[in-house]
Amino acid sequence: MSTSAQYYTRTAQVLHWLMAAIFITAWLIGFYSGNFLSYEVDGGFKGTVITLHKNIATTIIFLVVIRIFWRYTHPAPKLPATMSPMMKGLAHIGHLFLYLMLLALPITGCLFSWSAGHPAPVLYLFEIPRLVQDNPDLLAIVKPLHIYLSWFAGLLVAGHILAAIKHHVIDKDNVLLSMLRQPK
Ligand code: HEM
Repeated sequence: MSTSAQYYTRTAQVLHWLMAAIFITAWLIGFYSGNFLSYEVDGGFKGTVITLHKNIATTIIFLVVIRIFWRYTHPAPKLPATMSPMMKGLAHIGHLFLYLMLLALPITGCLFSWSAGHPAPVLYLFEIPRLVQDNPDLLAIVKPLHIYLSWFAGLLVAGHILAAIKHHVIDKDNVLLSMLRQPK
């Protein structure tokens, strides 16, 4: 294997850490609003927080398209030979589900907002063109879907972080560094 194949490309690394920061920030803001704020008590503040959640989270839609293209054209480094076939399989399934969450959460989030009669704004600059109008039947499906998927994604990201720490601290292999460094 060539040295360069042990590391993700710089572009893949930048996309990974940028999207991780956006995803975790959006997740924390959504969780805060959904579980700690109410319109009755917090009034307009809850609206402001949800608007912030949307303006940050919608950027994932654009970044994930670039990310999937980049991943397809630039294969990931191989996992360490020391990993068992079962652990490698689990890692691949985990990564696949993380990509699915990067697609499913912004999509269900936008459908949630549109079907409730609200916009899907991007970085306070523009709105994603509405693909559905106010629709209580759709809202009854996509609202719980967005919430349950967000909890599943939270567990998935927590597992992903713990696995990366285990690779670095216990297994002492190159997995975490492959997403941080470039070959000398
Ligand atoms: C990476 C993308 C996203 C993540 C990780 C995410 C995560 C979350 C989380 C954790 C919650 C709280 C769930 C709960 O109540 O326990 C939430 C709620 C919500 N999300 Fe998202 N979301 C994303 C994208 C979006 C998008 C793109 C929109 C709309 C444009 C959106 C609209 C909403 C709305 C309206 C709520 C309800 C907030 C409330 O009731 O206070 N989300 N989201």
